[in-house]
Amino acid sequence: MRSGALAEMTIMLAAQGKGLASGAMSGFDPVAVSAECKLASNEIPVMLLAVGRPAPGNWPRKVRRDVGAVLSFSAD
Ligand SMILES: Cc1cc2nc3c(=O)[nH]c(=O)nc-3n(C[C@H](O)[C@H](O)[C@H](O)COP(=O)(O)O)c2cc1C
Repeated sequence: MRSGALAEMTIMLAAQGKGLASGAMSGFDPVAVSAECKLASNEIPVMLLAVGRPAPGNWPRKVRRDVGAVLSFSAD
């Protein structure tokens, strides 16, 4: 699972470097994906990743609050 997550992030970064957009997805039917991809019984689909050319007007990230508004550190 962890290796799959790291691999997916690396692919996302590589895709972005190539000017592509990507979207991770963990909410899927693993049985259906396994059947569609003809996975062996000892192979488990961890995540899906959609990769493609960004549509005109696409933005890299939706609006987020500043980190300082949602995270604080305490020395106590
Ligand atoms: C590991 C991972 C799994 C995700 N799985 C789903 C998913 O199953 N369905 C979904 O709608 N969004 C999922 N997301 C969120 C989308 O990929 C995306 O990050 C989210 O829609 C926020 O998009 P934004 O950054 O443009 O606002 C997942 C994100 C991550 C990092």
